[in-house]
Amino acid sequence: MPEALEGPELPGSLVAYDLLVRDADAEQWLELRARYDREDNSPRTVDELRANIRRQGNPPRAVGSADRTLVAFVATEFGTTGDGATYVNAYCDGDPGEPVLGDLVAYATALAASAGAGRVEFIAHADNRLADPLAARHGFQVAEHWRHFELAIRGDEVGAALSEGLEIVTLGARPDLAEEAFRVYGDSLDDVLGDFPRGARDIASWLERLDASHSRGRDHVALLVHGDEVRAMLRLLRRRPESDRADVAMLGVDRAHRGRGYARVTRAHSGALAASLGLTKLESCTRSDNLGIIRLCETQGWSEVDPHFMVRRELPTHAGTTTSPRLRHDVDLQHD
Ligand SMILES: CC(C)(COP(=O)(O)OP(=O)(O)OC[C@H]1O[C@@H](n2cnc3c(N)ncnc32)[C@H](O)[C@@H]1OP(=O)(O)O)[C@@H](O)C(=O)NCCC(=O)NCCS
Repeated sequence: MPEALEGPELPGSLVAYDLLVRDADAEQWLELRARYDREDNSPRTVDELRANIRRQGNPPRAVGSADRTLVAFVATEFGTTGDGATYVNAYCDGDPGEPVLGDLVAYATALAASAGAGRVEFIAHADNRLADPLAARHGFQVAEHWRHFELAIRGDEVGAALSEGLEIVTLGARPDLAEEAFRVYGDSLDDVLGDFPRGARDIASWLERLDASHSRGRDHVALLVHGDEVRAMLRLLRRRPESDRADVAMLGVDRAHRGRGYARVTRAHSGALAASLGLTKLESCTRSDNLGIIRLCETQGWSEVDPHFMVRRELPTHAGTTTSPRLRHDVDLQHD
């Protein structure tokens, strides 16, 4: 049995998808995910799907309901504290009903228990309408509220006005700043509010992931620089290779330089960067208590759309462990 399919037995209403090996599974998965994923980030081809999965260190399990009302990725990750969680990304058309939802919860709970993780979470960009049935029938609670903003790109955006000594460049134009950029990125990722898998990090794999696709690579990373110092970085992540939509996947300011307006000027540049890349829409999803980012969205012309929720259920008892592999979830979580 392939490694991705090992583990607790699947409850009766669920089936496993072997996306890397079986073409028929991958094709059906693509069709169902595209049907239920309202965002423009579903892979379109088997090759694209497999490349996405292979980029993740330890592939998530792919499951679905036998009645084809739902598909989901399920993966366990441990943070640096060893406080693990099993995360579920579910794609469905609202409440899939029972036994499907209960079986998915039971499966994720069994995985969490077998890995020593302490909780199960349905992550924010899963269908929001799952939050209510998960709360009502399965004891989940809304753990986080994420606000979601959009910016239409006209194409004639100009760069931000910068004070003396500062300039904005792309990482593509200044590959010599990769180490500095990675330092600011790594510190900032640690400081982002919210519970989501942050993945294993080292500069080689960061650059490798950036370079893995020309359509989301180093030219999608803007750096606010002062000489050879990176003061802030902003990364756009295209929904899919050919998509004209991207997320502001990260805006981070050097810890030593926060509170000086650097996020404001770097973010003000995002429209011009998007226009230069041929994008027509930017999106930004941030936890509701990330007040700096909310303030920027509200004062830089972004419009608010539906919020996202992350719902969580703690396991009754668990013994934390740090021995499980850490996963990378850039494809589905958009927060790498
Ligand atoms: C969030 C972050 C990017 C802000 O950077 P910064 O350079 O300190 O922000 P700025 O000085 O440009 O401030 C931007 C605006 O937000 C406001 N703001 C910043 N931090 C705030 C806070 N903690 N509470 C309330 N308002 C805040 C500022 O007052 C400013 O508004 P104003 O210009 O109207 O006064 C920075 O703290 C950081 O890197 N955090 C970790 C990474 C992160 O969370 N990134 C976002 C998720 S991807």
